[in-house]
Amino acid sequence: MPDTRPAPAAAATTESQIAVHWREEEYFKPSPKFVAQANLTDPAVNERFAEKNFPECFNEYAEMLTWYERWQKTLDTSDPPFWKWFVGGKINASFNCVDRHLAKYKNKAAIITVPEPEDEDPVAVTYQELFVRVNEFAALLRDFAGLKAGDRVTIHMPMLAELPITMLACARLGVIHSVVFGGFSGEACGLRAADSGSRVLVYMDGYYRSGKLIDHKASAEIAVATAEKEGQKIDKVLVWRRYPGKYASAAPMVKGRDVFVDDVLKDYCGARVDPVPMDAEAPLFLMYTSGTTGKPKGCQHRTGGYMAYVTGTSKYIQDIHPEDTYWCMADIGWITGHSYIVYGPLALAATSVIYEGVPSYPDAGRVWRIAQRLDVNIFHTSPTAIRMLRKAGPDEPKKYHYHFKHMTTVGEPIEPEVWKWYYHEVGKDEAVIVDTWWQTENGGFLCSTKPAIDPMKPGSAGPGVPGIYPIIYDEKGEEVKAGSGKAGNICIRNPWPGIFQTIWGDRDRFVRQYYAKYNKDPKSKDWRDWPYFAADGAVLASDGYFRILGRVDDVINVAGHRLGTKELESACLTVPEVAEAAVVPVVDEIKGRVPEIYIALKPGYAPTKEITDRVIATLETMIGKIARPKRVHIVPDMPKTRSGKIMRRVLAAISNTLDTGDITTLANPDIVEQIRVAVQGKEKLKTQEGPEDLKQFGTVD
Ligand code: PRX
Repeated sequence: MPDTRPAPAAAATTESQIAVHWREEEYFKPSPKFVAQANLTDPAVNERFAEKNFPECFNEYAEMLTWYERWQKTLDTSDPPFWKWFVGGKINASFNCVDRHLAKYKNKAAIITVPEPEDEDPVAVTYQELFVRVNEFAALLRDFAGLKAGDRVTIHMPMLAELPITMLACARLGVIHSVVFGGFSGEACGLRAADSGSRVLVYMDGYYRSGKLIDHKASAEIAVATAEKEGQKIDKVLVWRRYPGKYASAAPMVKGRDVFVDDVLKDYCGARVDPVPMDAEAPLFLMYTSGTTGKPKGCQHRTGGYMAYVTGTSKYIQDIHPEDTYWCMADIGWITGHSYIVYGPLALAATSVIYEGVPSYPDAGRVWRIAQRLDVNIFHTSPTAIRMLRKAGPDEPKKYHYHFKHMTTVGEPIEPEVWKWYYHEVGKDEAVIVDTWWQTENGGFLCSTKPAIDPMKPGSAGPGVPGIYPIIYDEKGEEVKAGSGKAGNICIRNPWPGIFQTIWGDRDRFVRQYYAKYNKDPKSKDWRDWPYFAADGAVLASDGYFRILGRVDDVINVAGHRLGTKELESACLTVPEVAEAAVVPVVDEIKGRVPEIYIALKPGYAPTKEITDRVIATLETMIGKIARPKRVHIVPDMPKTRSGKIMRRVLAAISNTLDTGDITTLANPDIVEQIRVAVQGKEKLKTQEGPEDLKQFGTVD
């Protein structure tokens, strides 16, 4: 029987071992109706994926795919921690998501796109239609743009069917795609294009957001200029049009460089491109994410292992069947969209819904109207979206006749009250919930309940998913035991097929950042010596469920999206008057966390609103609107250690009205009170208990 007693409180030792006090929540059970139809109901799965059957247990996932040649070795550990999966196997991701379904499902919808304007009807793309469009675009990429296996292409597009079509066309050729979130700025796109060495950009001219047709092509000019400044020439910009034949942007088309895809595609009508059989280890895509340095890193994902992992977890954890209508509200520009809108669901021949716009547009009922109209039965979103929908229209879901069998939450910790609203109101007490914890680097889920087997516990992700053996270590590398009530660093003890191969072009950083911390012997060839360090704080309850507390590094999770503080700080420092910048997370009712900025000016400059406004504008142009800070504080000096390190933890405490802790070791302890008064006012506010990630913020390098 799982132990439901409250976790005992323990005294704090180090900062990453903070005792966590939280009330144990009651369990919720999946309905018999859900269990009766689920893909995974046999508890023997735990045995099949137990350590004694590792790594061969993962053959079960690889066997869900169609291979040109079967692998000879499941896992090669000869060059730790650069694991190789399904060695010797040959496979094509596009073939697995499209061609292999034609015999049975060619007239079934593969993708349904829902335009934001409600007077435009949803558009269904059948598997046959997807096959035709992917082939024709692949022919264009190969014969018009001159791309071949191993080349990189940067894609900056909104949520429309043309985005997965572009990805699948790349995958068909073995071209490595790098999708940059559509909401990122042109500059952010250009930097990523340069890092990946892309000479072709794929764009869309415009798309709808909150009722407005956004001019997106304008950002291509900035992307090209930025990439070229970094030494990467862009030869071609391929521009899809939101309305073929009608250009939605004011940006000029540059002759010889820019073309409208709908014009050029006419030359490839009826073209068929044989999928290229790729090595299982050939990279499928890059996905840039933020880390502890200013430069975003390109997470390089392999073809065979990644496809196996997203297909297996989509089947077992998302419970996707071909007859399901599945809607994940994430953006395809993030890893969730890659794994659980495009590759996983399409590999299983599901119908995957893509919505172009803002969930609350034109009103709080929009999401539920879409669910009702398309008869969606699996729904996948983030705590931020759930909090937003709950605030905008707590009673809206019951006005609509949709029925979810399964719902997912991903990207941030979910508060138990928000979980319960999701369960009772959105899920109408019928849908099972999985709280899935994972990261861009991981390819697919790491912790979650198995929906028909494990009971749900609000606020806890659950145990490791099949074949994943998580562990919590303290700073010294000692295991933090289940039920101790202490937090520590969650790690994964073993490799798995979805783990990324490396950071594009930076093997050292890959080893340093993810493996060095808990590796005792760099020469060891035994995978047991190479735990993966996730940079998240977590607590393990005595029932084996992990509760994720948040990042322990300098990453801020804004609305489920990662922003690196160093990245934001470097942007602030491009404002000429700014001498020093420090970015800290503050609690936000909807988005979880948002950045707040502290800046110190160069001598001779007085603080003005004009400088503050310029800092905000710079963040928006260099990174995107997602980086907009809650507030910008101009301070006379930063709190610093004697070695000159800015104490972001102290600033985070001030911004969030927490206890600033011991500041006596600072080089300038007096500044702390001055900053506190400037931020909070003269009156000393009562300090709060505060979430764990804020207490730990900036304490781990
Ligand atoms: O802090 C964890 C949080 O999101 C981070 C990963 O962000 P990203 O790479 O953008 O991927 C997001 C989608 C997979 C993690 O380090 N996180 C993700 N899922 C959860 C979560 N925190 C708590 N609960 C989750 N279910």
